[in-house]
Amino acid sequence: MERFYIETWGCQMNELDSQRMAGQLMQQGLLPTRALEEADLILLNSCSVREKAAQKAYSRLGEYRLLKRDRESLRIGFCGCVAQQEGEEALRRIPDLDFVVGTGRVGEIGSVLGRSRNGERVLAVGFPEERPYDFEAISRDTAHKGMVTIIEGCNKRCTFCVVPNTRGPERCRPLADILHEIEHLLDYGFLEIELLGQTVNHWREPAPPLGSGRDRDFADLLNVAALLPGLKRLRFVTSYPRDFTDRMIRAVARHANISPYLHLPVQSGSNRVLRRMGRGYTVEEYLGLVDRLRAARAGLALSTDLIVGFPGESEEDFQRTVDLVETVRFATVFAFKYSPRPNTAAIRLPASDEVPREVADQRLQHLFKTQSAIQRALNEELVGSEFDLLVTGWSRRAGHQSGRTDCHRIVHFPAPERPAETGSLVRVRTLQAYDHSLMGELVARGVG
Ligand code: SAH
Ligand code: F3S
Repeated sequence: MERFYIETWGCQMNELDSQRMAGQLMQQGLLPTRALEEADLILLNSCSVREKAAQKAYSRLGEYRLLKRDRESLRIGFCGCVAQQEGEEALRRIPDLDFVVGTGRVGEIGSVLGRSRNGERVLAVGFPEERPYDFEAISRDTAHKGMVTIIEGCNKRCTFCVVPNTRGPERCRPLADILHEIEHLLDYGFLEIELLGQTVNHWREPAPPLGSGRDRDFADLLNVAALLPGLKRLRFVTSYPRDFTDRMIRAVARHANISPYLHLPVQSGSNRVLRRMGRGYTVEEYLGLVDRLRAARAGLALSTDLIVGFPGESEEDFQRTVDLVETVRFATVFAFKYSPRPNTAAIRLPASDEVPREVADQRLQHLFKTQSAIQRALNEELVGSEFDLLVTGWSRRAGHQSGRTDCHRIVHFPAPERPAETGSLVRVRTLQAYDHSLMGELVARGVG
């Protein structure tokens, strides 16, 4: 029996792509393995969003190649965003790489493997018009939630971002297909569904039927999906601030099973920097949206992405970002140091704008410190309450399991004698707060 091993880097889209590839391989009779040494096929599903992505991927592939010395039949495939970008170059650079599969060709992994077995070195990159999407062939067994792509690619042109190149232009899936897939996942037993897209709230019904009036948008999708029987939690990432309409806010307010948690990347607290990033909104507009959301939905938790050291970011610009973080009090912040990406507009900014590395490092540390204190205080406020927790698996702390509250906090709890099932809902009481999580105790299992 042949076994495959997939290493996944990056965002939820990559996670789902790995589940899709695993599903297709299992349909062909291969089995997954967690042990690299046992694998007959290794796939690296790479991420190119930050830092020395290509370099990191090539060095990992180099490590895999060494395994070929002892195992001649071992096959190595390069997948994901770096693979999409590098394409033929990867086959040139690594003589014993077996195939390259880009983000737009995930659905072809089975046939690529077949061709590879016939001795061909396969290059499958680019974005086909019609992409096969067999959602029943997705391997979700290890997942605690069902992820559903509703919109792929991105049409925005944030000047720092490589995603439009690696994931291609925006493509929306038809509503009927999306609902069909969600129903399939609910049938399968998932309690939580997560809708995915780079700008998830930019979803629109593709080619709406003639005479159907207004095009259906993301607010309509939420309103229909939230009513599906058996759906306990509906979440979505990532929302683009400018595309968040009042109708969407009302949908979030109306449906209790839409999680009171939103990831709303702001990137910077300075209007000058936002303009140079091409984000299309101001700090004031962002704060206005936050206010309307919080007024509409009590207990709403927010998280965000921030970039420090964007070219031309002054000390004052950075201070505005710190101010914004203190004003909004996010539940979680993902902060990154700017890293120049190939074929983006920002790499053409003058070299004199470059923020020195040490300065960017300091700013990042300062931001982390500011945010840690806020997070700790927010988590302290939750101590002593009861929460329904969706169990995500084992905690790194021995003998403990972990889960996510509706507002997306991580809570650990001592595992009962018969551990709670991954993907089930349990009730916990929180006892202690940390910076990034809480400790609790199990009150009841099988709730929901
Ligand atoms: N639409 C997606 C964006 C994917 S990139 C989303 O909002 O999730 C995820 C995050 O990575 C971005 O929000 C941004 O904060 C960060 N990022 C993207 N390009 C970057 C770069 N060149 N340097 C540093 N961080 C970057
Ligand atoms: Fe990237 Fe901006 Fe799209 S951050 S994914 S270009 S919304």
